[in-house]
Amino acid sequence: MLAAGHRAVSTADAAPEGGPDAAPDPAVAGGTEAPRRAIRSFVLRQGRITRAQQRALDTLLPGLGLPYSPAPVDFDRVFGRRAPRVAEIGFGMGEVTAQIAAAHPEIDYLGVEVHSPGVGSLLDKVGRLGLTNVRVVQHDAVDVMREMVQPASLAGVHVFFPDPWHKKRHHKRRLLQPGFVALLASRIAPGGYLHVATDWEDYAREILGVLDAEPQLANVAGRGYSPRPEHRPLSRFEQRGLRLGHAVFDLLFRRR
Ligand SMILES: C[S@@+](CC[C@H](N)C(=O)[O-])C[C@H]1O[C@@H](n2cnc3c(N)ncnc32)[C@H](O)[C@@H]1O
Repeated sequence: MLAAGHRAVSTADAAPEGGPDAAPDPAVAGGTEAPRRAIRSFVLRQGRITRAQQRALDTLLPGLGLPYSPAPVDFDRVFGRRAPRVAEIGFGMGEVTAQIAAAHPEIDYLGVEVHSPGVGSLLDKVGRLGLTNVRVVQHDAVDVMREMVQPASLAGVHVFFPDPWHKKRHHKRRLLQPGFVALLASRIAPGGYLHVATDWEDYAREILGVLDAEPQLANVAGRGYSPRPEHRPLSRFEQRGLRLGHAVFDLLFRRR
């Protein structure tokens, strides 16, 4: 993610910026970067946090944030009700998450993001809008989905504009690979959906191949990409992609 305060860059070079030696963000993984998976889909940078984001982190994270723990979570208890639940992975600054959550108070949204400015930004919006249907986990979504989310428990999963890791040598960092897609699919209830959007054409093709090959999923469009659903608001990264003249690809799959 392009954290607040970083130089303006295109989606093309946003992800690898900072490189593997960038300063770790102590808010993730309790500040101890224990060697876990060798390859992750993000590089942590501290990034500049605005006053509003910091205030939201200080005041709202204790109530609306779930600390990562490698154990299944009772989300009915966390949200205080039983409702359809949608997870959004890599929500960035949270503008899309907040807009969708405001438009659908009957659905609970679990946002997963690693960068503190983005978490602060979403919490700030949630506070301003008075939303009660959003909770946040600040941790690697791979661990969160594997350990905290029960199989067949989600009504949907959103992955909007995942980092494209455009250089060939970085493709191994791309989030949507067969293993993670199989894990995601297993967390979605039968009939639930996985919605991915990207403005990076070769990544779109790669994701389409991975989703088509996943036996738990069926393409809602029959084959190929889906039309852009009207309910998906424009995000920062999408706006940047459009400014650069990129096409945008929506992929909508249903859990069998
Ligand atoms: C290119 S940005 C897109 C942000 C937002 N969805 C949008 O459309 O503006 C990708 C985001 O995914 C986050 N991310 C990447 N890998 C992640 C992971 N394994 N777990 C949680 N967040 C991740 C990054 O921190 C970044 O904010």
